[in-house]
Formats: sequence, C-alpha cells, structure tokens
Amino acid sequence: RGSNDALAAWLGAAAGSHDSAALLATLQAANSAGTLFVCDYAPVLGNVAPAGLVRSGQYFAAPFALFAVSGGALLPLAIQVDSVGRGYVFTPQDDANAWLLAKLWVGSADAQWWFSGAHLFNTHTVVMQFAIAAAALAEAGTLAADHPVLVLLKPHLAKVFDINTAVYNLQASGSAGAGIYQAGQFCDQFLPTGRIGLYQIVSNLFADYSFDAAAFDSSLAARQLDTGNLPVPFPYRDDGTPWWNAIANFVSGVIEASYADDAAVAADAPLNAWFGAVQAAFNHDGVPRYTWTPTKAGLKRSATVLFHMAAVQHTAVNNSMFPHWGYLPNGAFAMTAPPPAGPGVTDAQLLASLPDPQAQTAYGGNSYYAWPIQNQIDFVVAGTSAVDDVAAGDGSLASLDAVYAGFAAGSGQAAAVAAFQAALWDGADSASARIAQNQSARIAAFRQANPSAATVPNSVSYYYLSPAVAPAMNLNAPVMNGIQI
Ligand SMILES: [Fe+2]
Repeated sequence: RGSNDALAAWLGAAAGSHDSAALLATLQAANSAGTLFVCDYAPVLGNVAPAGLVRSGQYFAAPFALFAVSGGALLPLAIQVDSVGRGYVFTPQDDANAWLLAKLWVGSADAQWWFSGAHLFNTHTVVMQFAIAAAALAEAGTLAADHPVLVLLKPHLAKVFDINTAVYNLQASGSAGAGIYQAGQFCDQFLPTGRIGLYQIVSNLFADYSFDAAAFDSSLAARQLDTGNLPVPFPYRDDGTPWWNAIANFVSGVIEASYADDAAVAADAPLNAWFGAVQAAFNHDGVPRYTWTPTKAGLKRSATVLFHMAAVQHTAVNNSMFPHWGYLPNGAFAMTAPPPAGPGVTDAQLLASLPDPQAQTAYGGNSYYAWPIQNQIDFVVAGTSAVDDVAAGDGSLASLDAVYAGFAAGSGQAAAVAAFQAALWDGADSASARIAQNQSARIAAFRQANPSAATVPNSVSYYYLSPAVAPAMNLNAPVMNGIQI
C-alpha cells in the first residue's frame, strides 16, 4: 500500500544496491501497476535482535522482501536482509551466491515467523482460547454436552489440548514432559531466538492481534491477495475458498436450525458465557482483539472463522511443514553465520551460513553429527504424522453424522450435516472437485511454462487442502477436523 515516494525514501536510506536508479524504476513501475507485493518481517521479528535475544552461535534477521507479478508467477525483485539496520538491498543482478544467500535468509526468517507465528500462535494458541472456555464451562455444568453450538464446534476444539501440552507444558526442564517452549527444550536448542526471543515474538503478535482481521476472507482482502489483485495460482486462497464456503453454509444451517432470532441468541446464557469468556481473555488488557456479538450473524461469523481456523488454516500451515522445512535450505531453523552485508559472497561464506552436516554436537553425554539438521527434520516429520480424524470424513454421510452425533436424527441441524457432506463431495461444484481441479490446473500451468521439465516440483503438485487421502501424500493427512498435531 506504500507510495512510490515511500519506495524512493526506503531505497535511499538503504546501504546501497547493485543499481539503485534501475531498481527504483522497476519497483515504482510495479507499484503503479498494482503488482508489487511485500513481505515485511520487521513488525513481528524486528525487535528481537536489537534487544539482544539471539543465541550465541546462531544468527537472525528481519528481512524486507519485494515481489512482483510477472509471467503468471510472483517473483522476488529485491531483498533487504537486515531491514532494521537499513542494510544493502540484494537483487538478482548481484552475484549468484549473494542473491541465493539473501533468499536463504528470507527462508529462515519465514521459518521463524511460521514456527511461533503462522503455525503455533495464529492457530494452536488462538483456537485454544475458545477450547479452554468451553471446557471450563462444560466442567462446571454450565455448558451442556448437547448444546448445538458445542456439538458443532467440539470436534474442532477438543484435541487442541493434546498437542498444546507438548508446546506449553511447564514440566521441569529436561524432563520427559517438558514443552518445547520451556527452558532447555527444542526452542532453546534449535531456534536462534531461544525461548526468550520467541516469547518476544509471541508478545509482538498478541499486541496487534485481531480475531476478526485473522478471518480467512478478511485477511486475504486486507493483504490484497484476492484473485483480482494477485492473478496467479495461490493454493491457500484457491483451495481454502471452497472449504470456507462449505463451512460458512454448514455453520449457518446449524445456527438457523437452533435459534429463531437474534433475541434467542442473546438469551442463551451458556453460549454468552462461553464467547464472553473468550472475549474477556483476548481483551484482558483493554485492547479489543475479539468482539463477541450475540446475534445470529455474529455467532455465524465467530463459529465460521473458528471452524476454518482450527481445520483448514491449521492444516495449511501444519501439513506443509514436512515438504517445506524438511529440506533445510528452504528455511533453516537457525542460520550459522552473520547475514551478508553486501554482494561478493564466496562459496565458503554461503556454506558457513547453513548448519554443517560434518559438525559434531555434544548432547546428553553423546556426540552427534548434523544435530541441528536431524532435529529440524525430526520436528517436521513428527508434526506431519497421518491422522484419521479428518474434516470431510470418508465421503459418506455416515462418517460426518458420527462426528456430529449430538444432532438428533431428522433435526434441522442433521439436515445441515447432510448439506455439508454434499457440498464437500457431490458434483462438479463440490469442494473436493474444485480442489482437485485447482491442483490439475497448477500442474498444467507449470508444464506449459516449463515444457522441458522432466518432473513437476512438489511445491506445484502437492495436494494442498485435499478433503480425501491421496496416495502420493505419504505422511500428510487431508484437512484435519481440528488441531491435533
Ligand atoms: Fe500444528
């Protein structure tokens, strides 16, 4: 959304680039055409290094990366690896090693943002607020097991506790049950921020969080990632939309069958206790992050956003972790040399920036080769184990009826389950058909653009938000019912 003048001021303040005049002209032309996109890591990662929260021997930066739509793809134009220090702006016109290293740094920053942000904060932590409130009220007897909104949402909330224990558990350091956020555990060993810098990142995320702005449709619109503004394949948007529509209709059907009017929603004391408790938790310091609106429309909105977040959004950021971060150069959990200050990067400097597979690390009385590499791979493999609790069921109505068994046979809510099953599975307009079509189209577009390529990359052929298990998905499950891994 920045102006061409802002681009000129940004580049003018930077510590140089290969050809600043030419770069500025390229960026301003893209900006004027509405095809310029930015990944700015500073708002979330920028205050970590200045506060001294980077572990000794590991390195960290908050880059600023500019992309433009070109030839049916989004291509990187320029990367300021150190945006906080207004560092050198790398471009493809620099030497190949320098441009590659700049991209490796963005990949690593993206891994930091993913680890504690896009994945654990935006899905696991946010969804848990709703689950804690529901569990507390159910335990107290305030929220009945057959409450229609609990029957609708419980399958998407219940298992978040199982996995979040592995993240947050306060058990003593080094003991078997200690969570990865605790002293000496995974984050302290393999992330450059350690747990303390990670807490800073989470604090940055919470300060500016808005549940409403995080909604699938609002978030895409605010970032101008809709098809009009970003006319290139974008799997999260393209495959997430059929899910969003099916879930919104399902939620609407259940709410319509459960409440005659807005007054009935406002009069439902257990429901208001539940979402009111969530509102109080999110806004405890007076900052409005979640607003509960006790109307049919307000309930539909909250329940749709929560359902999509727990099932689809989480699957998008969770199940992609193995194919993406399992290849370490795509996004090293920690870089092992300082960021490059300028072009002219040697092979030795490039290699020193990623963990050395020949290096040995002492741990627990033993010495291990490739310890950071093994642990990054272990983490993402463990995080993508197959699960059988999936959002679309097995294609049969019986499988979805079993998930929402609390709805009486013949009820309006049960009819909404049947409509959901049809929306997911039946006909050319169903979510499963649309998503399969999207995948075929991505492969066809790649083959057309790369006629001599022997293979289609996994990033193109990946079954992104598949309703069903696909044989080639190996470790990855289709869209999960809720956060369970
Ligand atoms: Fe997860």
